[in-house]
Amino acid sequence: MQVAIDGPASAGKSTVAKIIAQKLNFTYIDTGAMYRACTVIAKENNIDYGNEQGILAAIDRNEIQLKAVDGGQKVYAGDKDITRDVRLPEISANVSQVSALPKIREKMVSLQRKMAGEMNVVMDGRDIGTTVLPNAEVKIFLVATAHSRAQRRMLDLKQQGIKSDQTLKEIEQSIQERDYKDSHRQISPLKKATDAVEIDTTEMNIDQVVEAILVQIKKSQKNI
Ligand code: DC
Repeated sequence: MQVAIDGPASAGKSTVAKIIAQKLNFTYIDTGAMYRACTVIAKENNIDYGNEQGILAAIDRNEIQLKAVDGGQKVYAGDKDITRDVRLPEISANVSQVSALPKIREKMVSLQRKMAGEMNVVMDGRDIGTTVLPNAEVKIFLVATAHSRAQRRMLDLKQQGIKSDQTLKEIEQSIQERDYKDSHRQISPLKKATDAVEIDTTEMNIDQVVEAILVQIKKSQKNI
Protein backbone atom coordinates (compact mmCIF):
# COMPACT_ATOMS: atom_id res chain seq x y z
CA MET A 1 0.00 0.00 0.00
CA GLN A 2 1.18 3.51 -0.79
CA VAL A 3 0.26 6.59 1.24
CA ALA A 4 1.39 9.88 -0.35
CA ILE A 5 1.61 13.02 1.79
CA ASP A 6 2.46 16.24 -0.03
CA GLY A 7 2.42 19.91 0.87
CA PRO A 8 4.58 23.00 1.34
CA ALA A 9 7.56 23.34 3.70
CA SER A 10 6.86 22.81 7.42
CA ALA A 11 3.19 21.89 6.99
CA GLY A 12 3.81 18.98 9.38
CA LYS A 13 4.22 16.28 6.73
CA SER A 14 7.18 14.43 8.18
CA THR A 15 5.92 14.49 11.78
CA VAL A 16 2.58 12.91 10.89
CA ALA A 17 4.02 10.63 8.19
CA LYS A 18 6.42 9.11 10.76
CA ILE A 19 3.63 8.49 13.27
CA ILE A 20 1.34 6.94 10.67
CA ALA A 21 4.11 4.71 9.34
CA GLN A 22 4.82 3.53 12.88
CA LYS A 23 1.14 2.85 13.64
CA LEU A 24 0.66 0.84 10.44
CA ASN A 25 4.11 -0.74 10.46
CA PHE A 26 4.86 0.80 7.06
CA THR A 27 8.20 2.27 5.98
CA TYR A 28 8.46 6.05 6.15
CA ILE A 29 10.29 7.71 3.25
CA ASP A 30 11.22 11.37 3.58
CA THR A 31 11.85 12.44 -0.02
CA GLY A 32 12.74 16.01 1.04
CA ALA A 33 15.68 14.52 2.96
CA MET A 34 16.89 12.95 -0.29
CA TYR A 35 16.99 16.33 -2.09
CA ARG A 36 18.60 17.83 1.02
CA ALA A 37 21.23 15.05 0.90
CA CYS A 38 22.00 15.99 -2.74
CA THR A 39 22.49 19.58 -1.57
CA VAL A 40 24.80 18.55 1.31
CA ILE A 41 26.84 16.42 -1.12
CA ALA A 42 27.17 19.42 -3.48
CA LYS A 43 28.27 21.67 -0.61
CA GLU A 44 30.80 19.22 0.81
CA ASN A 45 32.35 18.67 -2.61
CA ASN A 46 32.43 22.39 -3.41
CA ILE A 47 30.14 21.89 -6.40
CA ASP A 48 27.98 24.80 -7.53
CA TYR A 49 24.29 24.23 -6.66
CA GLY A 50 23.42 24.67 -10.35
CA ASN A 51 26.01 22.18 -11.66
CA GLU A 52 23.76 19.23 -12.53
CA GLN A 53 26.45 16.94 -13.99
CA GLY A 54 28.85 17.68 -11.14
CA ILE A 55 26.23 16.91 -8.47
CA LEU A 56 25.11 13.75 -10.31
CA ALA A 57 28.69 12.46 -10.41
CA ALA A 58 29.15 13.25 -6.71
CA ILE A 59 25.92 11.40 -5.84
CA ASP A 60 27.24 8.38 -7.73
CA ARG A 61 30.35 8.45 -5.54
CA ASN A 62 28.33 8.98 -2.31
CA GLU A 63 25.24 6.78 -2.39
CA ILE A 64 22.25 8.40 -0.65
CA GLN A 65 20.57 6.05 1.79
CA LEU A 66 17.70 6.42 4.26
CA LYS A 67 18.03 4.06 7.21
CA ALA A 68 15.16 3.42 9.61
CA VAL A 69 16.09 3.74 13.31
CA ASP A 70 13.60 3.58 16.23
CA GLY A 71 10.71 5.26 14.50
CA GLY A 72 13.02 7.86 12.95
CA GLN A 73 15.24 7.92 9.94
CA LYS A 74 18.93 8.55 9.38
CA VAL A 75 20.33 10.00 6.19
CA TYR A 76 23.64 8.78 4.79
CA ALA A 77 25.89 9.96 1.98
CA GLY A 78 28.16 6.98 1.35
CA ASP A 79 29.03 5.84 4.88
CA LYS A 80 28.78 9.33 6.40
CA ASP A 81 25.80 10.14 8.64
CA ILE A 82 24.48 13.51 7.40
CA THR A 83 21.17 13.45 9.31
CA ARG A 84 21.94 16.74 11.07
CA ASP A 85 23.65 18.44 8.12
CA VAL A 86 20.55 18.10 5.92
CA ARG A 87 18.62 20.42 8.28
CA LEU A 88 21.17 23.26 8.35
CA PRO A 89 19.79 26.67 7.24
CA GLU A 90 22.29 26.87 4.36
CA ILE A 91 20.92 23.59 3.01
CA SER A 92 17.29 24.75 3.44
CA ALA A 93 18.15 27.92 1.54
CA ASN A 94 19.65 26.08 -1.45
CA VAL A 95 17.70 22.82 -1.70
CA SER A 96 15.06 24.34 -4.01
CA GLN A 97 17.74 25.11 -6.60
CA VAL A 98 19.20 21.59 -6.47
CA SER A 99 15.79 19.89 -6.44
CA ALA A 100 14.78 21.79 -9.59
CA LEU A 101 17.56 20.14 -11.64
CA PRO A 102 15.84 17.66 -14.00
CA LYS A 103 18.43 14.87 -13.88
CA ILE A 104 18.63 15.04 -10.09
CA ARG A 105 14.84 14.67 -9.90
CA GLU A 106 14.94 11.78 -12.39
CA LYS A 107 17.45 9.95 -10.22
CA MET A 108 15.63 10.59 -6.93
CA VAL A 109 12.20 9.69 -8.36
CA SER A 110 13.52 6.41 -9.68
CA LEU A 111 15.01 5.59 -6.24
CA GLN A 112 11.71 6.55 -4.57
CA ARG A 113 9.63 4.36 -6.91
CA LYS A 114 12.00 1.44 -6.34
CA MET A 115 11.55 1.73 -2.55
CA ALA A 116 7.77 2.05 -2.86
CA GLY A 117 7.64 -1.01 -5.08
CA GLU A 118 9.33 -3.17 -2.47
CA MET A 119 7.31 -2.38 0.67
CA ASN A 120 4.29 -0.60 2.16
CA VAL A 121 5.22 3.05 2.39
CA VAL A 122 4.19 6.39 3.74
CA MET A 123 6.08 8.82 1.52
CA ASP A 124 6.14 12.58 2.00
CA GLY A 125 7.26 15.31 -0.37
CA ARG A 126 5.96 17.72 -2.99
CA ASP A 127 5.22 15.58 -6.04
CA ILE A 128 4.45 12.16 -4.58
CA GLY A 129 0.73 12.15 -5.45
CA THR A 130 1.22 13.84 -8.82
CA THR A 131 4.37 12.22 -10.17
CA VAL A 132 6.21 9.69 -8.02
CA LEU A 133 3.26 7.49 -7.04
CA PRO A 134 0.29 8.59 -9.18
CA ASN A 135 -1.54 5.36 -8.27
CA ALA A 136 -1.10 5.69 -4.48
CA GLU A 137 -4.18 4.39 -2.66
CA VAL A 138 -4.22 7.42 -0.35
CA LYS A 139 -3.15 10.96 -1.28
CA ILE A 140 -3.08 13.75 1.26
CA PHE A 141 -2.20 17.40 0.67
CA LEU A 142 -1.34 19.24 3.90
CA VAL A 143 -1.49 23.04 4.01
CA ALA A 144 -1.11 25.68 6.78
CA THR A 145 -0.48 29.43 6.88
CA ALA A 146 3.13 30.54 6.34
CA HIS A 147 3.12 32.12 9.81
CA SER A 148 2.19 28.92 11.63
CA ARG A 149 4.67 26.95 9.52
CA ALA A 150 7.44 29.40 10.48
CA GLN A 151 6.56 28.94 14.16
CA ARG A 152 6.81 25.16 13.76
CA ARG A 153 10.11 25.42 11.88
CA MET A 154 11.59 27.59 14.64
CA LEU A 155 10.53 25.08 17.28
CA ASP A 156 11.92 22.20 15.21
CA LEU A 157 15.34 23.83 14.88
CA LYS A 158 15.39 24.53 18.61
CA GLN A 159 14.42 20.96 19.49
CA GLN A 160 17.14 19.60 17.21
CA GLY A 161 19.69 21.88 18.86
CA ILE A 162 20.42 23.65 15.56
CA LYS A 163 21.51 27.24 16.15
CA SER A 164 19.98 29.77 13.77
CA ASP A 165 20.25 33.56 13.81
CA GLN A 166 17.06 33.90 11.79
CA THR A 167 14.11 35.71 13.38
CA LEU A 168 10.58 34.33 13.08
CA LYS A 169 9.87 36.91 10.36
CA GLU A 170 12.98 35.83 8.41
CA ILE A 171 12.04 32.15 8.71
CA GLU A 172 8.55 32.99 7.45
CA GLN A 173 10.06 34.87 4.52
CA SER A 174 12.40 32.02 3.60
CA ILE A 175 9.49 29.55 3.79
CA GLN A 176 7.48 31.76 1.42
CA GLU A 177 10.43 32.02 -0.98
CA ARG A 178 10.81 28.23 -0.96
CA ASP A 179 7.04 27.77 -1.53
CA TYR A 180 7.27 30.07 -4.52
CA LYS A 181 10.29 28.29 -6.02
CA ASP A 182 8.84 24.81 -5.33
CA SER A 183 5.47 25.70 -6.90
CA HIS A 184 6.88 27.48 -9.93
CA ARG A 185 9.63 25.15 -11.08
CA GLN A 186 9.13 23.51 -14.47
CA ILE A 187 9.38 19.87 -13.49
CA SER A 188 6.85 18.36 -11.08
CA PRO A 189 6.10 21.53 -9.11
CA LEU A 190 4.44 21.46 -5.72
CA LYS A 191 0.79 20.92 -6.61
CA LYS A 192 -2.20 19.15 -5.12
CA ALA A 193 -3.09 16.01 -7.09
CA THR A 194 -6.67 16.21 -8.35
CA ASP A 195 -7.59 13.12 -6.30
CA ALA A 196 -5.78 14.22 -3.10
CA VAL A 197 -7.61 15.12 0.11
CA GLU A 198 -6.57 18.58 1.35
CA ILE A 199 -6.18 19.10 5.11
CA ASP A 200 -5.49 22.56 6.58
CA THR A 201 -3.40 21.93 9.71
CA THR A 202 -3.15 25.57 10.88
CA GLU A 203 -5.54 25.04 13.78
CA MET A 204 -4.95 21.34 14.30
CA ASN A 205 -2.60 19.50 16.63
CA ILE A 206 -0.54 16.52 15.50
CA ASP A 207 -2.96 13.90 16.87
CA GLN A 208 -5.85 15.50 15.01
CA VAL A 209 -3.95 15.49 11.71
CA VAL A 210 -2.88 11.86 12.22
CA GLU A 211 -6.50 10.91 12.98
CA ALA A 212 -7.79 12.70 9.87
CA ILE A 213 -5.28 10.85 7.68
CA LEU A 214 -6.03 7.47 9.32
CA VAL A 215 -9.70 8.02 8.47
CA GLN A 216 -8.74 8.41 4.80
CA ILE A 217 -6.57 5.28 4.94
CA LYS A 218 -9.41 3.24 6.48
CA LYS A 219 -11.79 4.53 3.81
CA SER A 220 -9.45 3.43 1.06
CA GLN A 221 -8.96 -0.01 2.65
CA LYS A 222 -12.72 -0.54 2.59
CA ASN A 223 -12.66 0.19 -1.11
CA ILE A 224 -9.93 -2.38 -1.88
O1 DC B 1 10.24 18.60 2.81
P1 DC B 1 11.55 19.38 2.87
O2 DC B 1 11.39 20.79 3.32
O3 DC B 1 12.59 18.65 3.65
O4 DC B 1 12.04 19.42 1.34
C1 DC B 1 13.22 20.08 0.97
C2 DC B 1 13.12 20.56 -0.47
O5 DC B 1 13.18 19.47 -1.37
C3 DC B 1 11.89 21.37 -0.82
O6 DC B 1 12.13 22.75 -0.74
C4 DC B 1 11.56 20.97 -2.23
C5 DC B 1 12.30 19.69 -2.46
N1 DC B 1 11.43 18.53 -2.60
C6 DC B 1 10.98 18.25 -3.86
O7 DC B 1 11.23 19.00 -4.79
N2 DC B 1 10.25 17.13 -4.08
C7 DC B 1 9.95 16.30 -3.08
N3 DC B 1 9.25 15.20 -3.32
C8 DC B 1 10.38 16.61 -1.75
C9 DC B 1 11.11 17.74 -1.55
